[in-house]
Amino acid sequence: MRVLGFESSCDETSAAIVRGPVERPTMESLVILSQDVHRLFGGVVPEIASREHLTAIVPVTERALADAGVRADDIDGIAVTHAPGLVGALLVGVSFAKALGASLGKPVIGVHHMEGHLFATALEHPEATPPFTALLVSGGHTLLLDVEAWGRYRILGATRDDAAGEAFDKTAKLLGLPYPGGRHIETLARDGDPKRIRFPRPMLHGGQRLGDADYYDVSFSGLKTAVLLAVQASKDLETDRAHIARGFQDALIETLVTKTLRAARAHGRTRIVLGGGVACNRALIEAARLAASEIGAQVFAPTPRLATDNAAMIAAAGLFRLEAGERDGPALNAFSTRPLPGLIASPLATG
Ligand code: KG4
Ligand code: ZN
Repeated sequence: MRVLGFESSCDETSAAIVRGPVERPTMESLVILSQDVHRLFGGVVPEIASREHLTAIVPVTERALADAGVRADDIDGIAVTHAPGLVGALLVGVSFAKALGASLGKPVIGVHHMEGHLFATALEHPEATPPFTALLVSGGHTLLLDVEAWGRYRILGATRDDAAGEAFDKTAKLLGLPYPGGRHIETLARDGDPKRIRFPRPMLHGGQRLGDADYYDVSFSGLKTAVLLAVQASKDLETDRAHIARGFQDALIETLVTKTLRAARAHGRTRIVLGGGVACNRALIEAARLAASEIGAQVFAPTPRLATDNAAMIAAAGLFRLEAGERDGPALNAFSTRPLPGLIASPLATG
């Protein structure tokens, strides 16, 4: 089965073709058009995002077909992100996918964006298949999951406030770096002295036993405040910037890695899969690998193209659902929030 996937939930217009079976997916093409215009505003402007998707969706789709060397009629199904995200942006992808599906007489399936991120790594690493522990860290989400099988997910932890990528972006702003700031912080942090500034490790203090509310959750707003205070207290920000970036990144990474390892250990998982834009961060990947080696677990991270928002992961998740016989009708709609499909109860005492 060959699936054409669409992603338009935020500021990337993307189309991709992935061929099954889902156990051995082949990415035949992937086109990602990033909307650089939002840099001017220091964040994504929803109205502009929708307009840009409208302009881009047809040429992006044509290019994805051409790169794969196939015609629209060679497609067996269409997958499209329908939640969560900016509704106006999502609607462009959903409307286009439904219209194309109707005109070609092909089935259409709506895909949850976060389920897409779970499938991204398997496109490059065939071993990154369930069961595994997943850490999804992007500009909008921070989720720790146990993936028992494709379509069977336990949400273990999430952020109480800012997403990990948002914390990177806000810290970058405080340090006068461009948006989106994650990779700029990563570069700057390389020149920082890890011993100069030690920020508190959020959610690594109280309530740290299995079953406690704080055991898997994370929170980054306190860390952001600590960064702000450090910036205000600095007498020479030009010199201190790198040390602050390093202190911030170390605190955030230690928190994420500690919680991820807890999840892997509690569920007896030997594979850990990272996803989302923050999974581009080499320091995060290396810290996760080091910690995982202590329990004999392997860490899989997608390359930046597949870590950030892309349609190949949506096509792969859609392939799984279409192969299982799932279909959406003309009533398929876009939603700003929506629970992940296939959630199973998370028993507290799994260790
Ligand atoms: O997954 P993504 O492309 O879009 C969302 O769904 O949000 O993630 C974007 C986020 C931004 O917050 C960006 O600053 C962050 O990923 N990011 C990074 C790095 N590259 C991108 N954060 C830390 N280190 C990086 N190298
Ligand atoms: Zn995303």
